[in-house]
Amino acid sequence: MGTKTMIALFILDYHHVLLVSLIVSTVVEALEVTGGNMTVALGETAVLPCKLTGTSEPITQISWQRVTRGRPQKENFLTIIPKDGLKPVNGHVGRFTFIGSISSNDGSLQLASVELMDEGIYTCIFTLFPSGNHGADILLNLLVPPISSLKGNLLALGSEEVDLVTCTAAGSRPPAQVRWLTGTLAGKVRITNSSTEHPNGTTTTVSSLFGVPTREMNQHVVRCVVTNAALSKEETLAFTIQVYFSPLEVSIRQQAKDSFECVTEANPRASFTWNRSDNSWPQSARADAATLRFVSMASDLNGLYQCEASNSYGTKRGHLYVHVTSGGCTACWIVLCLLLLALSAGTAAVMFLYKSGKFPRTGEGTSRNRMSDTTPNTAQGVEEEEEERDRLQTEGPV
Ligand SMILES: *[C@@H]1O[C@H](CO)[C@@H](O)[C@H](O)[C@H]1NC(C)=O
Ligand SMILES: *[C@@H]1O[C@H](CO)[C@@H](O)[C@H](O)[C@H]1NC(C)=O
Repeated sequence: MGTKTMIALFILDYHHVLLVSLIVSTVVEALEVTGGNMTVALGETAVLPCKLTGTSEPITQISWQRVTRGRPQKENFLTIIPKDGLKPVNGHVGRFTFIGSISSNDGSLQLASVELMDEGIYTCIFTLFPSGNHGADILLNLLVPPISSLKGNLLALGSEEVDLVTCTAAGSRPPAQVRWLTGTLAGKVRITNSSTEHPNGTTTTVSSLFGVPTREMNQHVVRCVVTNAALSKEETLAFTIQVYFSPLEVSIRQQAKDSFECVTEANPRASFTWNRSDNSWPQSARADAATLRFVSMASDLNGLYQCEASNSYGTKRGHLYVHVTSGGCTACWIVLCLLLLALSAGTAAVMFLYKSGKFPRTGEGTSRNRMSDTTPNTAQGVEEEEEERDRLQTEGPV
């Protein structure tokens, strides 16, 4: 700022044909009005700076004009007059406050609770005497942070590509960037992005992950990362993919010497029902959800038990054949066969995990082992077992 001004004064004396040349050299600032480019977050207070420099001419008035998103026609909206202060041109002052000072050539305004409709160009004009009007523009830009969200779709196992999960960064200004962290699913999923600009100047960015819902994908965590100038740091939203499926194979595990647990994999979690093939229920057996427990070793326990695992997507069954030996050895009982029957898919997969043995009285050793881990240990048990196996083989799959 500041220019060197040369003032040359020529005096001509006609009588003496005398030329006196007086050269005054001085540094003078040029008259200038300074505006600005302001960026403010939605709802905050914006300062619209406007300063006059380089003159000592008196100010007659300061006027403000605007062209905004809300008022696209250029209009005068405020004036500041030395002795009266801030005056609205039409209507009222509203959210504006005069924060400058005429005596210090400062026409700055403050605008509270900035809205999207306030965004635009503001012009401040100093009217000076005698030189007239001098103005500058102030650009007001708004920052609106996105509202980020994730929405997963209901996924059933399938072979076709579907929309797995959608990440939305809604209503931001400037537009938000959305990306995904898919971990080991990278390469198995496809990403699509789209964005929509709203009339109020904000943009909604939507990014979706597409893929074929598989069991391996179930419980996999994916993350959506939203970046935007209006956010102080990037936002990360995590989503656990849920792929729903009916119970897979049902197996029956021995939990303790006198209890068994029905186990399957299903999403949502399966509910279990125990019953017996003859539709009777022995007094000494207790079924509680997945667990089957024998409270005493009585021969009424003998029979084929069925565990039915089901969820809203389907049902599968597992079978347990129980035979309790009577006689001198009352606590001595033998479980002969564990049949796993896949009844739902039409293919009857039969698994013959036959076994026998004395259950330890203490519950040590075999508890929590799979039934196939125990070994026959009595001659009687082996006999019984073979007998029962024959019987079951002739019966075939149920
Ligand atoms: C004002 O600032 C915004 C955001 O910082 C920028 O995009 C724009 O180009 C600037 N405009 C001017 C005229 O400097
Ligand atoms: C802008 O417009 C969109 C779409 O109409 C709306 O959802 C959003 O809330 C608006 N944003 C603001 C800050 O008014």
